[in-house]
Amino acid sequence: MKKNSFMMILLAALMVFVLVMTGCGKQTESGEPADASAETEAETESAAEEGSVIDYMVIVNKSNPLPDGWEEALDLKMTTNSVGDDVYVERKAYEAYLALKEAVEKDLEGYDKGEVRLQLDSAFRSIAAQQKIVDDFTEKYGEDYVKRYVAVPGFSEHHTGLALDLYFTIDGKDIYENEDLVQYPDIWEVIHARLPEFGFILRYTEAGEAATGYAYEPWHIRYLDSPETAEEITDKGITLEEYLENAK
Ligand code: DAL
Ligand code: ZN
Repeated sequence: MKKNSFMMILLAALMVFVLVMTGCGKQTESGEPADASAETEAETESAAEEGSVIDYMVIVNKSNPLPDGWEEALDLKMTTNSVGDDVYVERKAYEAYLALKEAVEKDLEGYDKGEVRLQLDSAFRSIAAQQKIVDDFTEKYGEDYVKRYVAVPGFSEHHTGLALDLYFTIDGKDIYENEDLVQYPDIWEVIHARLPEFGFILRYTEAGEAATGYAYEPWHIRYLDSPETAEEITDKGITLEEYLENAK
């Protein structure tokens, strides 16, 4: 009898333990972008303290795919842009982007074509989202363009959550399509000048085309979590590939 009671208590304790472990573990939105909007303010603060457990200097390019397990370690933040799209960004990169946006918009006060507001087109992308871009862009611009501007799914830096594609509004009008964005080199110059101090680099420069394998993209910036490293890469006029090669 005594033994049975003890067994019952032990079983009950085990069940409580299992329920607690499965129900109360931290449910991060990492790798599950659909959950990001559901987080409470308290969860946001706690996640901000924890952040992503990732290598901010990771290289993802034509010959280096996204490392295994990346999404599980990624802490994403969701925002909504001016065209109503939800955009997911690695949490620290998003904080840095907000600081960059504030600085750039201040620098562009008095811009002669109107009031400029920086926007996020796309940051984190799943493999499926990248495939959709390949398909849409192949239809719209053709295969040659896609080879120069779009990564093969699995090999896009956007999978890391650390690559951000920028666009902007001028007096509330969206300047969004690539062919429109390249018409504003004066605005890009102001944006690019501010990148390193917030830990970003321009990832696909004109000078770096041979090293990256991609054409010049004024909108694609990469967060490195280190203003010093971003400054060094920018000042030397090298690519992330070249920086990492030199550091070996
Ligand atoms: N536009 C860059 C290369 C990408 O698709 O990841
Ligand atoms: Zn991009």
